[in-house]
Amino acid sequence: MPTQQPPIKSRQVESIHRRQLLAAAGTLAIVPALLSACAAPSGAPPAGTAGAVAAAGTSTRRRLGPFQVFPIGMGVQWHRGRTPQEVNDLYASSTDRSAGMALIRHAVDLGVALFDTAEAYGPLFSEELVGEALQGRRNQVVLCTKFGFDIDPRSGERRGGLNSRPEHIREVVDNQLRRLRTDRIDLLYQHRVDPNVPIEDVAGTIKDLVAQGKVLHYGMSEPGLQSVRRAHAVHPVAVIQNEYSMLWRGPEAQVLPLCEELGIGFVCWSPLGMGFLAGTVSARTRFGEGDFRAAVPRFAPDALPANMALVRLVQAWARRKNATPAQLALAWLSARKPFIVPVPGTTNVAHLEENVAAASISFSPVELDELSAALAAIPVRGERLSPAVLAGTGVEAVPKR
Ligand SMILES: NC(=O)c1ccc[n+]([C@@H]2O[C@H](COP(=O)([O-])OP(=O)(O)OC[C@H]3O[C@@H](n4cnc5c(N)ncnc54)[C@H](OP(=O)(O)O)[C@@H]3O)[C@@H](O)[C@H]2O)c1
Repeated sequence: MPTQQPPIKSRQVESIHRRQLLAAAGTLAIVPALLSACAAPSGAPPAGTAGAVAAAGTSTRRRLGPFQVFPIGMGVQWHRGRTPQEVNDLYASSTDRSAGMALIRHAVDLGVALFDTAEAYGPLFSEELVGEALQGRRNQVVLCTKFGFDIDPRSGERRGGLNSRPEHIREVVDNQLRRLRTDRIDLLYQHRVDPNVPIEDVAGTIKDLVAQGKVLHYGMSEPGLQSVRRAHAVHPVAVIQNEYSMLWRGPEAQVLPLCEELGIGFVCWSPLGMGFLAGTVSARTRFGEGDFRAAVPRFAPDALPANMALVRLVQAWARRKNATPAQLALAWLSARKPFIVPVPGTTNVAHLEENVAAASISFSPVELDELSAALAAIPVRGERLSPAVLAGTGVEAVPKR
Protein backbone atom coordinates (compact mmCIF):
# COMPACT_ATOMS: atom_id res chain seq x y z
CA MET A 1 0.00 0.00 0.00
CA PRO A 2 1.39 3.43 -0.89
CA THR A 3 1.91 5.55 2.21
CA GLN A 4 0.07 8.83 2.69
CA GLN A 5 2.13 11.81 1.50
CA PRO A 6 2.20 14.90 3.68
CA PRO A 7 1.56 17.93 1.46
CA ILE A 8 4.66 19.54 0.04
CA LYS A 9 4.91 23.18 1.09
CA SER A 10 3.50 25.53 -1.51
CA ARG A 11 6.30 26.91 -3.60
CA GLN A 12 7.02 28.93 -6.65
CA VAL A 13 8.95 27.05 -9.24
CA GLU A 14 10.55 29.38 -11.73
CA SER A 15 9.14 28.98 -15.19
CA ILE A 16 12.44 27.79 -16.67
CA HIS A 17 12.54 24.94 -14.16
CA ARG A 18 8.92 24.02 -14.74
CA ARG A 19 9.27 24.06 -18.52
CA GLN A 20 12.38 21.91 -18.38
CA LEU A 21 10.87 19.53 -15.88
CA LEU A 22 7.92 19.02 -18.19
CA ALA A 23 10.31 18.56 -21.11
CA ALA A 24 12.28 15.97 -19.15
CA ALA A 25 9.07 14.35 -18.01
CA GLY A 26 7.91 14.13 -21.60
CA THR A 27 11.17 12.53 -22.66
CA LEU A 28 11.00 10.19 -19.74
CA ALA A 29 7.33 9.36 -19.99
CA ILE A 30 6.65 10.62 -16.48
CA VAL A 31 4.15 13.38 -17.26
CA PRO A 32 1.27 11.53 -15.61
CA ALA A 33 3.31 11.01 -12.46
CA LEU A 34 4.34 14.64 -12.45
CA LEU A 35 0.97 16.14 -13.11
CA SER A 36 -1.12 13.96 -10.87
CA ALA A 37 1.63 13.33 -8.29
CA CYS A 38 0.32 9.79 -8.18
CA ALA A 39 2.62 6.96 -7.20
CA ALA A 40 4.27 5.00 -9.99
CA PRO A 41 2.44 1.83 -10.93
CA SER A 42 2.54 -0.89 -8.36
CA GLY A 43 3.91 -4.21 -9.41
CA ALA A 44 7.01 -2.62 -10.94
CA PRO A 45 9.95 -5.01 -10.86
CA PRO A 46 12.31 -4.65 -7.89
CA ALA A 47 14.75 -1.95 -8.92
CA GLY A 48 17.58 -3.57 -7.07
CA THR A 49 17.93 -6.43 -9.49
CA ALA A 50 19.98 -6.45 -12.65
CA GLY A 51 17.98 -5.21 -15.60
CA ALA A 52 15.33 -3.60 -13.44
CA VAL A 53 14.00 -0.25 -14.52
CA ALA A 54 13.24 3.00 -12.80
CA ALA A 55 9.59 2.88 -11.93
CA ALA A 56 8.44 5.91 -13.88
CA GLY A 57 10.67 6.27 -16.89
CA THR A 58 11.30 3.79 -19.62
CA SER A 59 12.82 5.85 -22.40
CA THR A 60 15.77 7.42 -20.58
CA ARG A 61 17.58 5.09 -18.27
CA ARG A 62 21.23 4.50 -17.97
CA ARG A 63 23.25 1.53 -16.99
CA LEU A 64 25.09 1.85 -13.72
CA GLY A 65 26.99 -1.40 -13.25
CA PRO A 66 24.22 -3.98 -12.78
CA PHE A 67 21.44 -1.38 -12.47
CA GLN A 68 19.40 0.60 -14.93
CA VAL A 69 18.28 3.85 -13.40
CA PHE A 70 17.08 7.37 -14.11
CA PRO A 71 20.19 9.45 -14.98
CA ILE A 72 19.94 11.67 -11.88
CA GLY A 73 19.91 10.16 -8.39
CA MET A 74 19.38 11.74 -4.98
CA GLY A 75 21.75 11.95 -2.03
CA VAL A 76 20.33 12.01 1.50
CA GLN A 77 23.02 13.18 3.91
CA TRP A 78 20.99 14.74 6.66
CA HIS A 79 21.50 15.28 10.35
CA ARG A 80 19.25 15.89 13.30
CA GLY A 81 18.76 19.61 13.95
CA ARG A 82 18.27 21.46 17.21
CA THR A 83 14.61 20.46 17.52
CA PRO A 84 13.12 16.97 17.05
CA GLN A 85 11.62 18.10 13.73
CA GLU A 86 14.58 20.03 12.27
CA VAL A 87 16.72 18.36 9.62
CA ASN A 88 20.03 19.87 8.47
CA ASP A 89 22.36 19.06 5.61
CA LEU A 90 26.16 19.38 5.82
CA TYR A 91 26.04 22.94 4.59
CA ALA A 92 23.61 25.75 5.34
CA SER A 93 20.32 24.16 4.29
CA SER A 94 17.63 22.73 6.48
CA THR A 95 14.11 21.39 6.32
CA ASP A 96 11.88 19.49 8.67
CA ARG A 97 11.29 15.79 9.07
CA SER A 98 7.96 15.53 7.29
CA ALA A 99 9.01 17.84 4.43
CA GLY A 100 12.25 15.87 4.05
CA MET A 101 10.36 12.61 3.74
CA ALA A 102 7.86 14.18 1.35
CA LEU A 103 10.82 15.35 -0.73
CA ILE A 104 12.17 11.79 -0.98
CA ARG A 105 8.75 10.49 -2.02
CA HIS A 106 8.36 13.32 -4.53
CA ALA A 107 11.70 12.31 -6.05
CA VAL A 108 10.39 8.76 -6.52
CA ASP A 109 7.26 10.14 -8.16
CA LEU A 110 9.45 12.14 -10.54
CA GLY A 111 11.22 8.94 -11.59
CA VAL A 112 14.38 9.19 -9.46
CA ALA A 113 15.50 5.63 -8.74
CA LEU A 114 18.96 5.83 -7.15
CA PHE A 115 18.92 6.90 -3.49
CA ASP A 116 22.22 7.34 -1.71
CA THR A 117 22.71 7.42 2.03
CA ALA A 118 25.07 6.00 4.70
CA GLU A 119 25.24 4.77 8.27
CA ALA A 120 27.52 7.74 8.99
CA TYR A 121 24.98 10.35 7.83
CA GLY A 122 23.47 11.50 11.07
CA PRO A 123 24.84 8.96 12.12
CA LEU A 124 21.90 6.59 11.57
CA PHE A 125 19.46 9.49 11.15
CA SER A 126 19.46 9.62 7.33
CA GLU A 127 18.90 5.88 7.01
CA GLU A 128 15.97 6.10 9.43
CA LEU A 129 14.38 8.88 7.38
CA VAL A 130 14.99 7.19 4.04
CA GLY A 131 13.57 3.91 5.35
CA GLU A 132 10.45 5.62 6.63
CA ALA A 133 10.00 7.75 3.51
CA LEU A 134 10.31 4.81 1.14
CA GLN A 135 7.69 2.66 2.85
CA GLY A 136 5.40 1.50 0.06
CA ARG A 137 7.87 2.58 -2.63
CA ARG A 138 10.73 0.28 -1.81
CA ASN A 139 10.46 -1.77 -4.99
CA GLN A 140 10.68 1.34 -7.17
CA VAL A 141 14.16 2.35 -6.07
CA VAL A 142 17.77 1.27 -5.91
CA LEU A 143 18.60 1.73 -2.25
CA CYS A 144 22.27 2.40 -1.57
CA THR A 145 23.98 2.82 1.76
CA LYS A 146 27.47 2.56 3.23
CA PHE A 147 29.39 1.12 6.17
CA GLY A 148 32.99 1.64 7.20
CA PHE A 149 33.30 4.13 10.05
CA ASP A 150 33.63 2.99 13.64
CA ILE A 151 30.13 3.86 14.76
CA ASP A 152 28.07 2.01 17.33
CA PRO A 153 25.43 0.51 15.01
CA ARG A 154 22.73 0.79 17.66
CA SER A 155 23.34 4.13 19.38
CA GLY A 156 25.09 5.95 16.54
CA GLU A 157 27.96 6.96 18.84
CA ARG A 158 31.08 7.74 16.80
CA ARG A 159 33.99 5.83 18.28
CA GLY A 160 36.45 7.45 15.88
CA GLY A 161 38.23 6.14 12.82
CA LEU A 162 37.32 3.31 10.48
CA ASN A 163 36.07 -0.19 11.06
CA SER A 164 35.64 -2.72 8.26
CA ARG A 165 36.24 -5.81 10.34
CA PRO A 166 33.97 -8.62 9.07
CA GLU A 167 32.02 -9.04 12.33
CA HIS A 168 31.40 -5.29 12.45
CA ILE A 169 30.17 -5.19 8.83
CA ARG A 170 27.70 -8.00 9.58
CA GLU A 171 26.38 -6.20 12.66
CA VAL A 172 26.08 -2.90 10.78
CA VAL A 173 24.14 -4.49 7.92
CA ASP A 174 21.61 -6.13 10.23
CA ASN A 175 20.94 -2.75 11.83
CA GLN A 176 20.80 -1.00 8.46
CA LEU A 177 18.15 -3.43 7.23
CA ARG A 178 16.07 -2.64 10.30
CA ARG A 179 16.47 1.14 9.93
CA LEU A 180 15.84 1.07 6.20
CA ARG A 181 12.76 -1.13 6.77
CA THR A 182 13.80 -3.54 4.07
CA ASP A 183 15.02 -7.09 3.60
CA ARG A 184 17.86 -6.19 1.23
CA ILE A 185 20.32 -3.39 0.49
CA ASP A 186 20.60 -3.02 -3.27
CA LEU A 187 24.08 -1.50 -3.19
CA LEU A 188 26.30 -1.57 -0.10
CA TYR A 189 29.44 0.57 -0.26
CA GLN A 190 32.51 0.47 1.88
CA HIS A 191 32.56 4.19 2.72
CA ARG A 192 36.35 4.34 3.02
CA VAL A 193 38.96 1.61 2.69
CA ASP A 194 40.13 0.49 6.13
CA PRO A 195 43.90 0.21 5.83
CA ASN A 196 44.03 -2.33 8.66
CA VAL A 197 41.65 -4.91 7.16
CA PRO A 198 42.66 -6.86 4.04
CA ILE A 199 40.21 -5.93 1.31
CA GLU A 200 39.83 -9.64 0.52
CA ASP A 201 38.23 -10.04 3.97
CA VAL A 202 35.84 -7.15 3.29
CA ALA A 203 34.90 -8.44 -0.16
CA GLY A 204 34.50 -11.96 1.25
CA THR A 205 32.12 -10.65 3.91
CA ILE A 206 30.05 -8.85 1.26
CA LYS A 207 30.03 -12.02 -0.80
CA ASP A 208 28.56 -13.91 2.19
CA LEU A 209 25.95 -11.18 2.71
CA VAL A 210 25.02 -11.44 -0.97
CA ALA A 211 24.66 -15.20 -0.62
CA GLN A 212 22.32 -14.58 2.33
CA GLY A 213 20.26 -12.12 0.24
CA LYS A 214 20.86 -9.23 2.65
CA VAL A 215 22.94 -7.30 0.11
CA LEU A 216 22.57 -7.39 -3.66
CA HIS A 217 25.65 -5.51 -4.88
CA TYR A 218 29.00 -4.25 -3.62
CA GLY A 219 30.34 -0.72 -3.97
CA MET A 220 33.44 1.20 -2.87
CA SER A 221 33.78 4.90 -2.12
CA GLU A 222 37.05 6.80 -2.65
CA PRO A 223 39.05 3.56 -2.76
CA GLY A 224 42.68 2.95 -3.62
CA LEU A 225 42.86 1.47 -7.09
CA GLN A 226 44.77 -1.67 -6.15
CA SER A 227 42.19 -2.37 -3.46
CA VAL A 228 39.49 -2.18 -6.14
CA ARG A 229 41.28 -4.78 -8.24
CA ARG A 230 41.87 -7.05 -5.25
CA ALA A 231 38.26 -6.75 -4.07
CA HIS A 232 36.92 -7.29 -7.59
CA ALA A 233 38.81 -10.58 -7.80
CA VAL A 234 36.88 -11.83 -4.74
CA HIS A 235 33.44 -10.39 -5.52
CA PRO A 236 32.48 -8.03 -8.38
CA VAL A 237 32.58 -4.37 -7.46
CA ALA A 238 29.41 -2.97 -9.04
CA VAL A 239 29.87 0.77 -8.47
CA ILE A 240 32.57 3.20 -7.36
CA GLN A 241 31.43 6.42 -5.72
CA ASN A 242 33.90 9.31 -5.69
CA GLU A 243 33.71 13.05 -5.69
CA TYR A 244 33.45 14.22 -9.29
CA SER A 245 32.25 17.51 -10.72
CA MET A 246 33.45 20.43 -12.77
CA LEU A 247 35.13 21.56 -9.55
CA TRP A 248 37.00 18.27 -8.97
CA ARG A 249 37.96 16.19 -11.98
CA GLY A 250 40.42 13.83 -10.28
CA PRO A 251 38.60 10.59 -11.28
CA GLU A 252 39.26 11.25 -14.97
CA ALA A 253 42.92 10.23 -14.70
CA GLN A 254 42.63 6.69 -13.36
CA VAL A 255 39.31 5.89 -11.73
CA LEU A 256 37.02 6.29 -14.74
CA PRO A 257 39.38 4.25 -16.97
CA LEU A 258 39.39 1.52 -14.31
CA CYS A 259 35.58 1.55 -14.23
CA GLU A 260 35.53 1.26 -18.00
CA GLU A 261 38.01 -1.63 -17.92
CA LEU A 262 36.17 -3.62 -15.23
CA GLY A 263 32.58 -2.70 -16.19
CA ILE A 264 32.02 -0.82 -12.93
CA GLY A 265 29.41 1.95 -12.69
CA PHE A 266 30.40 5.37 -11.31
CA VAL A 267 28.40 7.59 -8.95
CA CYS A 268 29.51 11.20 -8.43
CA TRP A 269 29.22 12.63 -4.96
CA SER A 270 29.02 16.40 -4.49
CA PRO A 271 28.20 16.75 -8.21
CA LEU A 272 27.30 20.41 -7.63
CA GLY A 273 30.59 21.10 -5.87
CA MET A 274 28.74 21.36 -2.51
CA GLY A 275 26.43 23.98 -4.02
CA PHE A 276 29.26 26.08 -5.48
CA LEU A 277 28.51 25.20 -9.13
CA ALA A 278 24.82 25.96 -8.62
CA GLY A 279 25.79 29.58 -7.95
CA THR A 280 25.01 29.66 -4.25
CA VAL A 281 28.43 31.02 -3.26
CA SER A 282 30.13 34.34 -4.02
CA ALA A 283 33.74 35.49 -3.63
CA ARG A 284 32.72 37.13 -0.35
CA THR A 285 30.90 34.12 1.13
CA ARG A 286 32.20 33.07 4.54
CA PHE A 287 30.93 29.72 5.85
CA GLY A 288 29.55 29.53 9.36
CA GLU A 289 30.32 27.11 12.11
CA GLY A 290 28.78 23.73 11.30
CA ASP A 291 29.05 24.29 7.55
CA PHE A 292 31.38 21.57 6.21
CA ARG A 293 32.75 23.99 3.61
CA ALA A 294 34.33 26.15 6.34
CA ALA A 295 37.23 23.66 6.52
CA VAL A 296 37.57 23.09 2.77
CA PRO A 297 40.61 24.89 1.30
CA ARG A 298 39.05 25.59 -2.13
CA PHE A 299 36.32 27.62 -0.39
CA ALA A 300 38.75 29.60 1.79
CA PRO A 301 38.86 33.40 1.41
CA ASP A 302 42.20 33.20 -0.44
CA ALA A 303 40.88 30.66 -2.98
CA LEU A 304 37.29 31.70 -3.61
CA PRO A 305 37.90 34.80 -5.76
CA ALA A 306 40.01 32.80 -8.25
CA ASN A 307 37.58 29.88 -8.25
CA MET A 308 34.65 32.14 -9.14
CA ALA A 309 35.92 31.99 -12.73
CA LEU A 310 34.47 28.49 -12.85
CA VAL A 311 31.07 29.71 -11.64
CA ARG A 312 31.07 32.37 -14.36
CA LEU A 313 31.85 29.73 -16.99
CA VAL A 314 29.01 27.51 -15.75
CA GLN A 315 26.61 30.46 -15.75
CA ALA A 316 27.57 31.44 -19.30
CA TRP A 317 27.05 27.88 -20.55
CA ALA A 318 23.79 27.59 -18.65
CA ARG A 319 22.46 30.65 -20.49
CA ARG A 320 23.64 29.20 -23.77
CA LYS A 321 21.83 25.90 -23.09
CA ASN A 322 18.72 27.57 -21.65
CA ALA A 323 19.42 25.76 -18.40
CA THR A 324 20.23 26.67 -14.84
CA PRO A 325 23.83 26.39 -13.56
CA ALA A 326 22.97 23.31 -11.47
CA GLN A 327 21.43 21.62 -14.50
CA LEU A 328 24.44 22.46 -16.63
CA ALA A 329 26.81 20.97 -14.06
CA LEU A 330 24.76 17.76 -13.76
CA ALA A 331 24.24 17.35 -17.52
CA TRP A 332 27.98 17.76 -18.10
CA LEU A 333 28.68 14.85 -15.73
CA SER A 334 26.13 12.63 -17.51
CA ALA A 335 27.77 13.48 -20.81
CA ARG A 336 31.23 12.43 -19.66
CA LYS A 337 30.56 8.67 -19.70
CA PRO A 338 27.43 6.55 -20.22
CA PHE A 339 27.95 4.76 -16.88
CA ILE A 340 27.95 7.87 -14.65
CA VAL A 341 25.09 8.88 -12.34
CA PRO A 342 25.32 11.95 -10.08
CA VAL A 343 23.54 12.03 -6.71
CA PRO A 344 22.94 15.72 -5.93
CA GLY A 345 21.79 16.48 -2.41
CA THR A 346 18.99 18.92 -1.73
CA THR A 347 16.48 19.84 0.95
CA ASN A 348 14.45 21.94 -1.45
CA VAL A 349 11.62 20.80 -3.72
CA ALA A 350 12.28 23.39 -6.46
CA HIS A 351 15.94 22.37 -6.54
CA LEU A 352 14.97 18.70 -6.72
CA GLU A 353 12.70 19.34 -9.70
CA GLU A 354 15.38 21.48 -11.33
CA ASN A 355 18.00 18.76 -10.86
CA VAL A 356 15.72 16.02 -12.23
CA ALA A 357 15.08 18.13 -15.32
CA ALA A 358 18.81 18.13 -16.07
CA ALA A 359 18.21 14.68 -17.56
CA SER A 360 16.76 16.33 -20.66
CA ILE A 361 19.89 18.39 -21.44
CA SER A 362 22.46 17.04 -23.88
CA PHE A 363 25.56 18.37 -25.60
CA SER A 364 26.86 17.92 -29.12
CA PRO A 365 30.42 16.57 -29.40
CA VAL A 366 31.55 20.04 -30.53
CA GLU A 367 29.96 21.66 -27.48
CA LEU A 368 31.58 19.11 -25.19
CA ASP A 369 35.02 19.75 -26.67
CA GLU A 370 34.56 23.48 -26.33
CA LEU A 371 33.34 23.22 -22.76
CA SER A 372 36.12 20.81 -21.77
CA ALA A 373 38.75 23.16 -23.19
CA ALA A 374 37.25 26.09 -21.31
CA LEU A 375 37.20 24.06 -18.08
CA ALA A 376 40.79 22.96 -18.52
CA ALA A 377 41.82 26.61 -18.76
CA ILE A 378 40.52 27.33 -15.24
CA PRO A 379 42.79 25.83 -12.58
CA VAL A 380 40.94 25.27 -9.30
CA ARG A 381 42.76 26.78 -6.34
CA GLY A 382 42.86 24.91 -3.00
CA GLU A 383 42.42 21.26 -2.04
CA ARG A 384 39.00 19.66 -2.37
CA LEU A 385 38.84 18.53 1.28
CA SER A 386 40.53 19.31 4.58
CA PRO A 387 43.83 17.40 5.11
CA ALA A 388 42.22 15.03 7.64
CA VAL A 389 39.35 14.07 5.33
CA LEU A 390 41.60 13.91 2.28
CA ALA A 391 43.87 11.43 4.08
CA GLY A 392 41.04 8.89 4.05
CA THR A 393 40.74 8.88 0.25
CA GLY A 394 42.61 6.66 -2.21
CA VAL A 395 43.75 4.42 0.65
CA GLU A 396 44.98 0.86 0.04
CA ALA A 397 44.15 -1.97 2.40
CA VAL A 398 46.86 -3.99 4.14
CA PRO A 399 47.88 -7.09 2.13
CA LYS A 400 46.22 -10.39 2.98
CA ARG A 401 48.71 -12.78 4.60
N1 LIG B 1 30.84 8.83 -0.58
C1 LIG B 1 31.15 9.93 0.07
O1 LIG B 1 32.17 10.00 0.74
C2 LIG B 1 30.24 11.12 -0.01
C3 LIG B 1 30.68 12.37 0.47
C4 LIG B 1 29.80 13.44 0.37
C5 LIG B 1 28.53 13.27 -0.19
N2 LIG B 1 28.14 12.06 -0.63
C6 LIG B 1 26.82 11.84 -1.24
O2 LIG B 1 26.64 12.78 -2.29
C7 LIG B 1 25.41 13.47 -2.10
C8 LIG B 1 25.49 14.87 -2.69
O3 LIG B 1 26.64 15.56 -2.24
P1 LIG B 1 26.59 16.95 -1.46
O4 LIG B 1 25.28 17.20 -0.85
O5 LIG B 1 27.81 16.95 -0.62
O6 LIG B 1 26.89 18.04 -2.58
P2 LIG B 1 26.12 18.61 -3.85
O7 LIG B 1 25.04 17.69 -4.26
O8 LIG B 1 27.20 18.95 -4.80
O9 LIG B 1 25.53 19.99 -3.30
C9 LIG B 1 24.50 20.06 -2.36
C10 LIG B 1 24.24 21.52 -2.12
O10 LIG B 1 23.75 22.13 -3.30
C11 LIG B 1 22.51 22.78 -3.07
N3 LIG B 1 21.68 22.53 -4.25
C12 LIG B 1 21.22 21.35 -4.72
N4 LIG B 1 20.53 21.52 -5.86
C13 LIG B 1 20.56 22.85 -6.11
C14 LIG B 1 20.01 23.64 -7.14
N5 LIG B 1 19.32 23.11 -8.13
N6 LIG B 1 20.21 24.99 -7.07
C15 LIG B 1 20.91 25.55 -6.07
N7 LIG B 1 21.46 24.84 -5.06
C16 LIG B 1 21.27 23.49 -5.08
C17 LIG B 1 21.95 22.15 -1.81
O11 LIG B 1 21.20 23.09 -1.08
P3 LIG B 1 19.58 22.99 -0.99
O12 LIG B 1 19.30 21.95 0.04
O13 LIG B 1 19.19 24.35 -0.59
O14 LIG B 1 19.09 22.60 -2.35
C18 LIG B 1 23.22 21.78 -1.05
O15 LIG B 1 23.66 22.89 -0.29
C19 LIG B 1 25.19 13.43 -0.59
O16 LIG B 1 23.84 13.61 -0.25
C20 LIG B 1 25.67 12.03 -0.26
O17 LIG B 1 24.65 11.10 -0.53
C21 LIG B 1 28.98 10.97 -0.55
